[in-house]
Amino acid sequence: MGIFLCFLFFLISLASACDRCAHQAKAAYFSKASALSSGACGYGSLALGFNGGHVVGAVPSLYKNGAGCGACFQIRCMNTTLCTKQGTQIIVTDLNNNNQIDFVLSRRAFRAMAYKGMDEDVLKLGIVDVEYKRIPCEYKNQNLAVRVEEISQKPNYLAVKFLYQGGQTEIVAVDVAQVGSPNWTFMTRNYGAVWDTQRVPAGALQFRIVVTAGYDGKWIWAKNVLPSDWKVGVVYDTGVQISDIAKEGCSQCDDGSWK
Ligand SMILES: *[C@@H]1O[C@H](CO)[C@@H](O)[C@H](O)[C@H]1NC(C)=O
Ligand SMILES: *[C@@H]1O[C@H](CO)[C@@H](O)[C@H](O)[C@H]1NC(C)=O
Repeated sequence: MGIFLCFLFFLISLASACDRCAHQAKAAYFSKASALSSGACGYGSLALGFNGGHVVGAVPSLYKNGAGCGACFQIRCMNTTLCTKQGTQIIVTDLNNNNQIDFVLSRRAFRAMAYKGMDEDVLKLGIVDVEYKRIPCEYKNQNLAVRVEEISQKPNYLAVKFLYQGGQTEIVAVDVAQVGSPNWTFMTRNYGAVWDTQRVPAGALQFRIVVTAGYDGKWIWAKNVLPSDWKVGVVYDTGVQISDIAKEGCSQCDDGSWK
């Protein structure tokens, strides 16, 4: 144990704080994109609209019990005959429990790593060595949004799903209160990108969320999100967007763009 701790300390002191670190991994693909639309994050068919359908199931260490839902990555395959240096961008919508493979991509995303005309050859490989790094998610003219889930039951139960989370962060806590009230109620992650509470404040609702950012965390305050007559199945604009970047540690940063 002592040796392990020393080793860990040694590793951390060697690492520098980076916006992006490159990691090596293995990737495969789902034969059907619809396999991912019922993914563990709970995005449903909305997921197919993310990143042009470049969705991915990630290993538990990247899925992070749902905190990794909506995280964006640049990923490239290491076979330089078949695959471009820049690779493609993917977004986490599902959990992948196969510990031999780090990412299971939608077919469309898997092909997108290849040069034009080489995509069938890449598909034939089935499993490829890849390099990946976390990148900020960018939603043009689109704020962070919350969707009121069908399992919600007014006035006793509220479940919301976060959509279009920009930046390179993870949501680690969510509170809800009536608009203008300082009486905050905490919400709990139910699963994936869905947070819920059984103590639902009355009236129109505001949210504050904690995201990982920089070296620690940051509050994001959405002052007026749900109207008092909020309805299930509706997506509400939070009026805010996240652009922060949570740092990670690696021996060498990979902050440039892959070309
Ligand atoms: C890349 O893929 C091609 C086609 O499958 C294969 O012939 C070649 O050996 C691979 N190259 C590397 C470096 O794996
Ligand atoms: C605060 O909000 C909770 C949940 O809506 C409610 O049960 C409680 O009575 C409120 N407390 C005050 C002091 O208003």
